[in-house]
This record gives sequence, structure tokens and C-alpha cells, in this order.
Amino acid sequence: MKEITMNDYLEFIKENDFVIIESVKVKLNKTWSIKSYGPKEYFPEKTTVWSFPNRGSWATHKGNYRGNWSPYVPRNLILKYTNKGDWVLDQMMGSGTTLVEAKLLERNAIGVDINLDAVMVALDRLNFPYGQSTIKTYWGDARNLDKIESQSIDLIATHPPYANMISYTKNKKLSDDLSLLSPEEYLKEMRKVAEESYRVLKPGKVCAILIGDTRKYKHYVPIAFRVMQVFLEAGFILREDIIKLQWKMKATREKWRAKEYDFYLIAHEHIFVFRKPEKEEEYRKYKLSVNIF
Ligand SMILES: C[S@@+](CC[C@H](N)C(=O)[O-])C[C@H]1O[C@@H](n2cnc3c(N)ncnc32)[C@H](O)[C@@H]1O
Repeated sequence: MKEITMNDYLEFIKENDFVIIESVKVKLNKTWSIKSYGPKEYFPEKTTVWSFPNRGSWATHKGNYRGNWSPYVPRNLILKYTNKGDWVLDQMMGSGTTLVEAKLLERNAIGVDINLDAVMVALDRLNFPYGQSTIKTYWGDARNLDKIESQSIDLIATHPPYANMISYTKNKKLSDDLSLLSPEEYLKEMRKVAEESYRVLKPGKVCAILIGDTRKYKHYVPIAFRVMQVFLEAGFILREDIIKLQWKMKATREKWRAKEYDFYLIAHEHIFVFRKPEKEEEYRKYKLSVNIF
């Protein structure tokens, strides 16, 4: 991990007005005139089905980074599982949606991404004055969080790429980009992500990941469930399986010719909320009493 500071970003924007993430040009705003620092109305989610047709564009959220998540997702997770001053980690931060929410909600945060251009986008989105939080951004690999102390994080909220679905760095050929791996290799590497997540999290605290599935030869590939299994094997206990409806593919939804296909359009993802048990004993008790793992 290498820390990339706001000063590094300020140097970078002297010569760069945008970055290319895969084939998409993402503009660096450099300065912001912010109209609102939070959603107009906010109702915390109460059930295990979440749906945000209006994804949220307050503060510096722009929704134009490939695969970015709605700021409502980290907002709900941060408000439910942390207090002001706690430490939030997103080790695959992309455009930094989680970090912006942490800043607005007065939590401290650490963000990591394998793509230096993504780190610059995140710093761009964080480039506005607000509160007193400490926010650190790193160029690094979610499988090796060597600059983060063990048992120092209060909440992990992250949205990993899915095996071979949306590629983030095909044009740059970053060999450590998890989105370039075959499903088999991807699961092997996600085990390292799960183990590092377990190491840095404080006992009793929560790790939430958003992950979806795909199809191959018209059949369903349950990547999300296999990733869930990997996190359980790393020692986590499953606290929630939240279904998040997908809205960004509205155009696809409207054009979807269900009559002509013999399969459905996948329109949901999973948010798995794991808890690191406080003690080994708690984990053993859970495993024994459920007896399906
Ligand atoms: C789904 S995107 C995250 C989007 C983010 N939640 C947002 O709102 O912008 C996944 C990110 O994981 C990053 N990534 C891929 N492999 C990685 C690795 N080994 N370590 C850290 N980040 C990685 C990609 O560069 C990409 O930015």
C-alpha cells in the first residue's frame, strides 16, 4: 500500500483534467459548488430488500464511475453499524462513494484501490471542506492491507468487482485487478480479501460486501453465494443477506424481451453483512447450532 495524499492529487490535477477508467472518461471536477450535504429525505432501511431508484446525487456523488454503488448503501451501513469518530474501510473504493459518506457522517475512513486513477477520482470527490474526520487514501491491493493495523477497523463496507464481469483496467492490464480473473481464480483471491478483512476488523464488528451474480450459456452462476462461503470460511458469521434491486440497467429492463428469452434479466445483487465474532467460542457455538457449514 502506498498512501496517496491530497497534495499528490493537487499535483496530479495540474496536468490532468480527467482519467480513463476502462473506456470511460471520468472528469476530475477539481472544485465543487455543493448544493446539499445529504439526501433531502432519509429513511433508514428496515427490511432485507433495498431499492434506490434515485441513486442519490448529493455532495460530490456523480454516479459516473463504472460499477459505483448508490451512496444510500454506505449511508445505511455506516449509520447502522458505527458511531461518529469510528473507522470505516473500503478496500476497493473506486470513486470513493463510501469515503464521501464517511466524511459527511463524521466518521474516519480508509480507502484503497488497485488503480491509481481511481484513487485520483476518489480524492477529487473528497476535495471539499467538511467536519473534522481523518480520511486516508491508498494505492494498493485489497489482498494485502499492510499499512492497516490488525483489529483497528469498526466497519468494512466494500463493493468488489465480480469475476470477469465489468473490467476496470483491461486497457491498463493491471495484473492485480480482481475483475480480470476467471471465476475459479477470483474465488481463490477473494479468500485473501476475506482473510485480510477479518484481520483488520475489531472483534464484534461488521464487514458488508455488495456482490452480484451472472449467467453463462443462459444459466445462473451464483458467484455471490460462493463469495459468501469464502467469508464464512475465513471465520465470519452471517448477520444479513440483503437483496438490493438494480436500477441502473433501467434501459435494459425496458427493452428486455422476456418473451423471446427463456431466462430472466438478473435485477438484484446481495449485500452480505458479516460479523467478526467476539470470541472463538461464539463462532463454534453458531456453527454447531446451525450445523450446515
Ligand atoms: C465495483 S468497483 C467499486 C466502486 C465503488 N464502490 C464506487 O462507488 O465507486 C470495484 C473497484 O475494485 C478495484 N479493484 C480491483 N481489484 C482490486 C484489488 N486487488 N485491490 C483493490 N482494489 C481492486 C477496481 O479498480 C474498482 O475500482
